[in-house]
Amino acid sequence: MKRSFYEKTKLFFINMGKYHKFLRIPAIIGLAVSMLSHRICLYFKTGTKRFACTVFVLLCFMVGNSFAYPVFQEENGFISGGEKEAEVVAVADSNISLVDEQQIEYENIKVLDDEDVVDGYGDSQFHDMKNVDKYFLDEILEENEILQPLKAAEQAEMEPAPEAAADQPQFDAKDWRLVLINKQHPIPEDYSFSLGMIKTIKGDMECDERIIEDLLQMMQAASEDGVTLAICSPYRDLSYQEYLFNRKIRAYMKNGMSYMEAYSISSQAVTVPGASEHQIGLAIDIISDTYLTLDEGFAETSAGIWLSQHCAEYGFILRYPKGKEAITSIEFEPWHFRYVGKDAAEVIMDEGLCLEEFWDKYL
Ligand code: DAL
Ligand code: ZN
Repeated sequence: MKRSFYEKTKLFFINMGKYHKFLRIPAIIGLAVSMLSHRICLYFKTGTKRFACTVFVLLCFMVGNSFAYPVFQEENGFISGGEKEAEVVAVADSNISLVDEQQIEYENIKVLDDEDVVDGYGDSQFHDMKNVDKYFLDEILEENEILQPLKAAEQAEMEPAPEAAADQPQFDAKDWRLVLINKQHPIPEDYSFSLGMIKTIKGDMECDERIIEDLLQMMQAASEDGVTLAICSPYRDLSYQEYLFNRKIRAYMKNGMSYMEAYSISSQAVTVPGASEHQIGLAIDIISDTYLTLDEGFAETSAGIWLSQHCAEYGFILRYPKGKEAITSIEFEPWHFRYVGKDAAEVIMDEGLCLEEFWDKYL
């Protein structure tokens, strides 16, 4: 009698178990798998419609899953098709939650400088911003009528300083100045603010109108101490943040990284679109006339040192300090200053905190 393939396979496993004791377990598994496969084949053989339905469901499942990963769009370089899924882990001794970055060997990788603003708009619709997005105080003052706040500052200097409050200042989580924006806390959909415009001889720059006065006072004070600061990259809209982010990814991919690797490392230098403080006009990148690059070296310049010593007096903090990268998920950025108001800024800079730690401790 001619045996079918299924019967031959079954017999093979039965004999295998019978004559080789030590192969009994693999034989049982093999037998079970062949019987199950046979049942499945029979099931579909008797119903083509059943088979078609199952294939359809499987296809839907696979297509649906593919949207969970970043995908490419042709327009404007690469754009992430979805938020990076990340495991949230608790930091030791703290209840701050952090994104666990994809594990990549970074030792031999040069983190590309964040040269996004100072040069290089050649490859996009932003090319006409070249040499515009960098504003020195004299260029602002020359074109601007917002000199009143600076005069007011001089007046304030002559007034006696208010007595220090006996208690620590109280902070309110609803205070607009303290809003926490990061990868875990993207900009809320209903977040609203008014953009203020500062005219400069090169063009207009924008940021939250409520911080302009303190910003200009800070620049003025630096100038009086012989430090010439330049604002770059104040407010950015979503499309510009996307452009910077995707450009960074592209640069890493040109260096041979996969998209996921490039995405992961880029998000440590440029915040994922929708979660940047620049998009709410409270963050300003600041450089100086003698150091025009956004890199760690800025920290050692007279401007970098002046800013870290005095920014709090004007309500600004060094938002991404050295040593806090594991909490902020952003590399050390000695040029990125965030407005939080004077009380909070004094506490944050005095205690050497980052904003996440401040929230953890005071709010
Ligand atoms: N470079 C800072 C982290 C930003 O993109 O918001
Ligand atoms: Zn910045």
